[in-house]
Amino acid sequence: MLLQQTTWPEVQEYLERSQGIVIPIGSTEQHGPTGLIGTDAICPEVIARGMAEAGILVAPTLSIGMAQHHLAFPGSITLRPSTLISVIRDVVGSLASQGFRQFYFLNGHGGNIATVQAAFAEIWADYSLAQSASGLKLKLANWFTGARIVALSRELFGEAEGSHATPSEISLTWHAYPDAVRDQALTPVRAPNGPIRDAHDYRKHFPDGRIGSEPGLASRAHGRRLYEAGLADALADYRAFLDVV
Ligand code: NI
Repeated sequence: MLLQQTTWPEVQEYLERSQGIVIPIGSTEQHGPTGLIGTDAICPEVIARGMAEAGILVAPTLSIGMAQHHLAFPGSITLRPSTLISVIRDVVGSLASQGFRQFYFLNGHGGNIATVQAAFAEIWADYSLAQSASGLKLKLANWFTGARIVALSRELFGEAEGSHATPSEISLTWHAYPDAVRDQALTPVRAPNGPIRDAHDYRKHFPDGRIGSEPGLASRAHGRRLYEAGLADALADYRAFLDVV
């Protein structure tokens, strides 16, 4: 069930059997010369759509995240950490007021992790300081760190996976959007590695936008396998999350 394609009576009925919801969260940022700007939002969204087909309610994707370090590349958009925390507080607060209790954020962007965890701490602090029990369970799960995905990425790409504009994420977007395939030889074949700082520094050290990756290894066929592994990881992890006391 996709929230955007349901009616309020259907959501009310869903709440009688489940108080859980999946919220895909990503980013809008450059992914090298061959990767889509929307990669980090598309990947969790396409996996979440598979979860929706299994009867789980899936909220609209929060597709702009914390991506300040990508701003020197055109098309990238960031929310400040403080803005993203406010967005997450308001989204959770809205749905919690109606009875939702388990919030499963399926994330596609490493740069969101610290901020999403801080948002969870803010939400819990609201209840703790008011001396009331929230009854909320909040979880951040990265689609790219599930056991099946990690094993498959290693099998397909090994060290060439890198950490930004990876062949895994680019393959998955090409599976979702076959017309998005771009064949272009990149130099160097494997991008450099290093720490992330501000946007100016990032572009200086990673001039084509990639970090440590060889996206030339991406393919639609790999993307299909990665989708199946990512969906299996997410379904198993979500069901386990609902069962946690
Ligand atoms: Ni990415």
